[in-house]
Amino acid sequence: MSILVVSSSLNSDSNSRLLAQAAMNALTADGLTPKLLDLNELPLPFCDGSSAYGHPNTQQVSKLASEASGFIFASPIYNYDVNAALKNFIELVGGNLEDKTVAFLNAAGGTSSYMSIMALANSLMLDFRSVVVPRFVYAVPADFADGAIANPKITERVATCARALASLTAQRTAA
Ligand SMILES: Cc1cc2nc3c(=O)[nH]c(=O)nc-3n(C[C@H](O)[C@H](O)[C@H](O)COP(=O)(O)O)c2cc1C
Repeated sequence: MSILVVSSSLNSDSNSRLLAQAAMNALTADGLTPKLLDLNELPLPFCDGSSAYGHPNTQQVSKLASEASGFIFASPIYNYDVNAALKNFIELVGGNLEDKTVAFLNAAGGTSSYMSIMALANSLMLDFRSVVVPRFVYAVPADFADGAIANPKITERVATCARALASLTAQRTAA
């Protein structure tokens, strides 16, 4: 079983990246060997439905995604949705999510956008029959301080969500 944690923020001072790292820590502590894909470090071309699929970075990411059996997406909330970088990732390599498990960790600026992830969750279920872990982490600026997660409840929720994803992925890959 291979889990890919995708951090989609393009901000070098990102809160959602801290959520991605917390998920990596929780899975590693459980003896798993998850991989981290940081889209800030491996920029993807915009999907044009054509030549972008052949770009070397797209191919590299496509290979990573094809090898993964479960995905944890850590992303910012922009305009009541995930950021464009994650949407672009899905447009480029989303076919690799077919029948696979996914979980979401989100960082937002306020408390009111907590249902924003549902548009992407629905589209993954409809497009790729992805199985969505019914646990969502939603963190706001007050949950972070000095480049770290300051709210222990958020660290705990990330770990619970990551473990739920790992457990569901293991069950589905064993079946
Ligand atoms: C273009 C843009 C749109 C945003 N839209 C929302 C929004 O709809 N709801 C919200 O709660 N925060 C919104 N925010 C705030 C971000 O979600 C917040 O800064 C978050 O920490 C970004 O994630 P990151 O730190 O991982 O980059 C927006 C920020 C930007 C730059």
